[in-house]
Amino acid sequence: MARGCCWRNTSVVFLLGIVCLLLGPAKGKFTPVDISPLERYYLDETKLTSAEYFRSWLTNVYNPVGQKMAQSVEEAYWDYDTNITAANEAATIESSQASANLTRLVAKIAAKFDLSKSEDTQMKKAQREGKELGDASLDPAELTELVTIVNGMESVYSTATICFDPNADANEVSLEDPTNCEESKKLPLDPDLINFMKNSTWDAKKRQYVWKAWRDVSGKKYWRSEYTDENAGYTDSDFLKNLNDIWLQIKPIYGELHAYVRRKLINRLPLEHLSPTGPIPAHLIGDMFSQEWTNMLNFTQLFPAKPLLDVTDEMKRQNYTVDKMFHLSEQFQIELGLKPMPEIFWEKSLFVKPKDGREVVCHASAWDFYRTGDVRIKMCTEVNMDDLITIHHEMGHIQYFLQYADQLLVFRDGANSGFHEAVGDTLALSVKTPKHLSWLGLLKNNNDDRESDLNYMFSTALEKIAFLPFAYIMDRYRYDVFSGKIGTNELNSGWWNYVLEYQGIIPGVPRTEDDFDPGAKYHIDADVEYMRYFISFVIQFQFHKALCDASGHAGPLYQCDINQSKKAGELLSSMLSLGSSQSWPVAMEKITGSRVMDAAPLLEFFQPLTDYLKAENRKNGDVAGW
Ligand SMILES: *[C@@H]1O[C@H](CO)[C@@H](O)[C@H](O)[C@H]1NC(C)=O
Ligand SMILES: *[C@@H]1O[C@H](CO)[C@@H](O)[C@H](O)[C@H]1NC(C)=O
Ligand SMILES: *[C@@H]1O[C@H](CO)[C@@H](O)[C@H](O)[C@H]1NC(C)=O
Ligand SMILES: *[C@@H]1O[C@H](CO)[C@@H](O)[C@H](O)[C@H]1NC(C)=O
Ligand SMILES: *[C@@H]1O[C@H](CO)[C@@H](O)[C@H](O)[C@H]1NC(C)=O
Ligand SMILES: *[C@@H]1O[C@H](CO)[C@@H](O)[C@H](O)[C@H]1NC(C)=O
Ligand SMILES: [Zn+2]
Repeated sequence: MARGCCWRNTSVVFLLGIVCLLLGPAKGKFTPVDISPLERYYLDETKLTSAEYFRSWLTNVYNPVGQKMAQSVEEAYWDYDTNITAANEAATIESSQASANLTRLVAKIAAKFDLSKSEDTQMKKAQREGKELGDASLDPAELTELVTIVNGMESVYSTATICFDPNADANEVSLEDPTNCEESKKLPLDPDLINFMKNSTWDAKKRQYVWKAWRDVSGKKYWRSEYTDENAGYTDSDFLKNLNDIWLQIKPIYGELHAYVRRKLINRLPLEHLSPTGPIPAHLIGDMFSQEWTNMLNFTQLFPAKPLLDVTDEMKRQNYTVDKMFHLSEQFQIELGLKPMPEIFWEKSLFVKPKDGREVVCHASAWDFYRTGDVRIKMCTEVNMDDLITIHHEMGHIQYFLQYADQLLVFRDGANSGFHEAVGDTLALSVKTPKHLSWLGLLKNNNDDRESDLNYMFSTALEKIAFLPFAYIMDRYRYDVFSGKIGTNELNSGWWNYVLEYQGIIPGVPRTEDDFDPGAKYHIDADVEYMRYFISFVIQFQFHKALCDASGHAGPLYQCDINQSKKAGELLSSMLSLGSSQSWPVAMEKITGSRVMDAAPLLEFFQPLTDYLKAENRKNGDVAGW
């Protein structure tokens, strides 16, 4: 995630809905689901205060219908995401309507129960969620509009290109006319522009052009769109305060990292005249969204003489295939005693961008079809280290799906979305240790010395620490937009105010309210809530520490690799298999022994690096901040 990936969020737990049309199942068609068993079911009025009665209704009446609906809806969206056509889009709209019908019916029935006197917190939780309407509170026309807008934005994001020739003379790039572009110069974000931003040529002018051109095609047109379906879960002031406290824990190490990288950029690009006490221009970061800084590793690495921890070249040298990358990730899970990927996973997943001319939504995602053994990943994979790590991330979602598959449908979900995002990343924290990579034969000449350790922590920090303020403001910003605190006449400046305040980054070219830069980001276009990633990046270190303790690891946290530890696997599995049947603090307690979100394990992981950066920055006369 984060990062180019996310679990497809079917946030409506009680997904689901009506219909028994004449059409049979067909690709690109929505398969109707008969919801009449719910309407016909006779509710015994004398038992409506009984949690046991609610449980039996959920199990015997709702579960079979809801599960079929969930399958149908996922199928419709899968067909669309792997083949963007008008017919497939129509099926997603129909599936959303059908599912909303079921949601409304369930809400009506769930509201008839009165469990206020019951002690059964699990059923009370289920009832509360069952009464929530979410998108189903919209009337059918509004719902169709919403689905169309979200699909439209997803598809623009997936199909938009900019006119650009990476090999052109830097002075000519701005002359490309987008309306009159040669086919070969039309570059999509994934993979071409992502690769370009990674490129080590560091030509500031070209980078600026690409950065702006991408925003012109992806964000600008849609800045008026409404995102009114945003789940209001984050309005709770305690939760916001909790998040802010965590951010304050992290802020000092981010400040040191920022100051250190700023100094490296100043040295590398003297002609840019960067201020040694100011923010960093966004187009120099090496990432389209300034969200991860790993692409700057090439010139920021603390000890350049030690091996670079990017194993991409070695993967290519060894002729790694996409298939091999997926099997490697599965193998790590199996050796922990977790579940293997089922057969359908290998048959039906989409691992590479199809070459048959189909338009697909390339953004990596993991899918649960709520049917025995039917889980899939959709990803336009390339052979490189980023994608190897993304595979571990997505397969973490899949493992979660498999672990909670025996729960009632209402509980087949993560303890919260941050948990779902954290599973694969937690495992990747072990896989990415230099020791593990060298054991896999992907890292040559690794030796366990202090400098290599610091290099490893530093590259991890460029990925994880740099990401945190970005993840934090994505929803802080949207929250302010939805509440009206950021007005429609300041949508873009409101965004950049946050980017400056939290990330210490400024736009590389002047921006106005004619631009809508947040829309350049997939999760804003596709309406995916983002705080989950902030939470995930914090709690994955809590999980990692807990699993390391279980595995018997001794020594600093950053050296821990839970490789093949059945004890760690068991502990993880005991939490995953709960699904959402318990509140997240309970799930947190199960794995960590504590009920709170806390950045302390993250700070522990990076402590030696924090100390080192602080000392280096002082030596260079640099102060954290901008
Ligand atoms: C894509 O969807 C269309 C229906 O809109 C269908 O006719 C076509 O066969 C699909 N292509 C693939 C490769 O599945
Ligand atoms: C949803 O319910 C309405 C009203 O009962 C019905 O007219 C409509 O066909 C249903 N939509 C779908 C897709 O099932
Ligand atoms: C990187 O830049 C060089 C020089 O401009 C170019 O030849 C190469 O194709 C670029 N690579 C990518 C992945 O864009
Ligand atoms: C950065 O990359 C260039 C070209 O790929 C390479 O020659 C150089 O050694 C790298 N620098 C570091 C510090 O790794
Ligand atoms: C990778 O493939 C190339 C070309 O097929 C071959 O020459 C080379 O020996 C292979 N490398 C390895 C490590 O298998
Ligand atoms: C992983 O565990 C196996 C079996 O215990 C062991 O042979 C291997 O060296 C371990 N790898 C690492 C990187 O610790
Ligand atoms: Zn994800």
